[in-house]
Amino acid sequence: MTALGKTGGSLAGLDLRAEIDRLRKDRNAVILAHYYQKAEIQDLADFVGDSLDLSRKAQATDADVIAFCGVRFMAETAKILSPEKIVVLPDMDAGCSLEDSCPPDKFKAFREAHPDHIALSYINCSAEVKALSDIIVTSSSAEKILSQIPKDQKIIFGPDKHLGGYLARKTGRDMLLWPGVCIVHEAFSETELLKLKAQHPEAPVAAHPECPAHIVDHADYVGSTSGILDFANTMPGDTLIVATEPHIIHQMEKAMPHKTFIGAPGADGNCNCNICPYMALNTMEKLYVALRDLQPRIEMSEDLRLAAKKSLDRMLEMAAGTVGQGDLGKPVVARA
Ligand code: 13P
Ligand code: SF4
Repeated sequence: MTALGKTGGSLAGLDLRAEIDRLRKDRNAVILAHYYQKAEIQDLADFVGDSLDLSRKAQATDADVIAFCGVRFMAETAKILSPEKIVVLPDMDAGCSLEDSCPPDKFKAFREAHPDHIALSYINCSAEVKALSDIIVTSSSAEKILSQIPKDQKIIFGPDKHLGGYLARKTGRDMLLWPGVCIVHEAFSETELLKLKAQHPEAPVAAHPECPAHIVDHADYVGSTSGILDFANTMPGDTLIVATEPHIIHQMEKAMPHKTFIGAPGADGNCNCNICPYMALNTMEKLYVALRDLQPRIEMSEDLRLAAKKSLDRMLEMAAGTVGQGDLGKPVVARA
């Protein structure tokens, strides 16, 4: 149940933007938002970023409350890194198909079946799966982290088979892939993309590595949300085809109003299937209620938090390039 449903009451007539600003000050709260959030939420956030940036902000903030406008695994990451803070997620049902694809008991069995492999896990997974992993990666840090792992070290990569497949093709590493997908990036249509490219032959394509290979193969740039934004800024020309969740286009249009950004199409060329249904659960109303009631809150046992923190700390160190060579390739989490 959402915070709005639980507390009830009409919010009609409230100036939500003003009320959120008031509560943000009263609560000493920081509002963190992912690029896939609705434009109005991005516009009022204290910080908008990709998964790695948001983790770093959550770790560094001196606010008492983090209102996380993103999905549950992101808010959980904030809590793992900043346990003394209250972390609220406007809608606790804001999950992720990648997280759902990887139940911890099945992942644990998979690890146990491959005792000579370390587990490199995409941040889009539950705290339990993080606790079972050696190193977490985001789309913006995966290549850098992979390059620091000895070439002869066997690796399990989960839960995103498309990101794992992209990394394997790009780096030549042979990794065992967990078969999860992002339902949003999976829905892009190659046929429709090719039609769009034919209509805009001058426009490059930027794709997120959560896209399947048949989409990534047509991209001029492949990278995380923040990487795609940087590419939009520096690319030659003034039109870009964007193969990721379309709410990111809001940031592009704000920063580069003279350029044209075209969302890559889904199956029938005209569906809303590339809007993340989980991200879309967060609304201004629910954010207001979350700041007012400090609910719904992310909670977890200290044992789980500490176990999950090891693989996240390893990500933050390796993404910053601060891990000593002697540490590399050793499993962080003792294998069962
Ligand atoms: P990044 O913002 O880290 O590229 O991740 C994209 C995503 O799908 C988050 O769920
Ligand atoms: Fe998960 Fe895909 Fe939504 Fe990102 S866009 S939160 S990977 S379902």
